[in-house]
Amino acid sequence: MVLLHIIVNGRGYDLQVGADPHQVDPAHTLAYTLRETLGLTGTKIGCNHGGCGACTVLMDGVPVLSCLTLTVECDGREIVTIEGLSPPEGNDLDPLQRAFMDHGAFQCGFCTPGIILTAKHLLDRNPSPDAETVEEALSGNHCRCISHYQVVQAVLAAAGTEADRDED
Ligand code: FES
Ligand code: FES
Repeated sequence: MVLLHIIVNGRGYDLQVGADPHQVDPAHTLAYTLRETLGLTGTKIGCNHGGCGACTVLMDGVPVLSCLTLTVECDGREIVTIEGLSPPEGNDLDPLQRAFMDHGAFQCGFCTPGIILTAKHLLDRNPSPDAETVEEALSGNHCRCISHYQVVQAVLAAAGTEADRDED
């Protein structure tokens, strides 16, 4: 029996590879496994073809498109989904989540988990980005509902560099 060990939001999972309903089929994507096997439906599947960014999660700290990532490729990897972003010790939200709420940076929210995780990676690498850097980082994440203006404002606010946008 082939076993996969993946860590999702700090919790380890041993998953069997196989064709039975409770197993991970070799053709299953990470997006499918997160949603259907582990019940973590915060990860959204939009296009399912790598074009929209809705399914973005962090793998070993780096954004990946989970609709294009096979689960069997994730053995030994650490995954963070939107459910894992809040500090584990409390009920509070991550500053990015709070900033998105404060700035009305979503409408239906379908794209939001992917955008926030992409932004999280950006702020981990660059805590004080300017608006252009945020726009570039989020260029692969598409939203059908609202202008990206609010999204960029929210990311800048979370970084404490909101004034950069106002000076544009
Ligand atoms: S659902 Fe993965 S990129 Fe669109
Ligand atoms: S808020 Fe609806 S797709 Fe972005």
